[in-house]
Amino acid sequence: MDRRIISTEIREEDEIADNSLRPLALEDYIGQTKVKRNLKVYIEAAKSRSDVLDHVLLYGPPGLGKTTLAGIVANEMGGNLKITSGPAIERPGDMASILNNLSEGDVLFVDEIHRLNRQVEEVLYPAMEDFRIDIMIGKGASARSIRLELPKFTLVGATTRAGLLSAPLRDRFGVISHLEYYSVDELKSIVIRSAAVLGVDIDEKGALELARRSRGTPRLANRLLKRVRDFAQVKYDGRISAEVADYALNLLDVDKYGLDRNDRLILKTIIEKFDGGPVGIETLAASIGEDSGTLEDVYEPYLIQNGFINRTPRGRVATKFAYENLGLVYRKGE
Ligand code: ADE
Repeated sequence: MDRRIISTEIREEDEIADNSLRPLALEDYIGQTKVKRNLKVYIEAAKSRSDVLDHVLLYGPPGLGKTTLAGIVANEMGGNLKITSGPAIERPGDMASILNNLSEGDVLFVDEIHRLNRQVEEVLYPAMEDFRIDIMIGKGASARSIRLELPKFTLVGATTRAGLLSAPLRDRFGVISHLEYYSVDELKSIVIRSAAVLGVDIDEKGALELARRSRGTPRLANRLLKRVRDFAQVKYDGRISAEVADYALNLLDVDKYGLDRNDRLILKTIIEKFDGGPVGIETLAASIGEDSGTLEDVYEPYLIQNGFINRTPRGRVATKFAYENLGLVYRKGE
């Protein structure tokens, strides 16, 4: 079957550019072992029943492969992938029209699904549960509702945190999977695979250096690979070694733990403005001019998991490791 990707909006440039690097089969997808193992079973079971896969909710920080997994589900199930996002669908009619244009077995990927408004969300409930939508025609006393039967489809929803979804929406997903940051080894394999797809010459140590400094995130690893390749071509002989990767990543402002300028700003703010903390998430967000939700879902998980920040009942605290990473002297507890 011809596999088409239909996007209902302009996606981030990066994401489109990444398309050639996205694996199409589950067995080519590196990492997320548990999610992959379970999905493999559900896909096989649905296929053997000649049924569609149950709706899937993927949650976790950005760049970890939610869109890629939706594409794989579509491909493995032999359906088309249609991509949209919560903020792009403003009216219930828009959602009804997207649903009405699906074919049997299609996968509808809704990114940032927590940002769907209430009215749009309500169109989804009967669509997910019974593959039907009820459309209101007319107004006042003459208003009536007509029922549209939909082809059976799979909704793949993506969000940074499952808790951001309303309970009725969350309850309608049969599969709920959490994506985690990738290990350095997994990222190294992804970098080596992507380099092969792009025809980039890279050695093991070069791939390891890139993997270490990609913040556990394949999207970042792939983006950095392309930028480091440019430095390798212009400043070196085209091959990415550890030395080339280190040189380029330093120029790109990516430190040895993969922290970027925003990560460092967060740590510096806690340390310099709030004496290392504790500081509340809202106060911290306001002082760096960032939305507290973004801070909590996008930046903080990596900083916490890697020992730069501790979350305490009184707020966020910078660790000794954070001070050292910024070249500052740790004086807490003196
Ligand atoms: N490219 C981006 N994410 C990937 C993954 N998880 N496995 C393989 N290639 C990828």
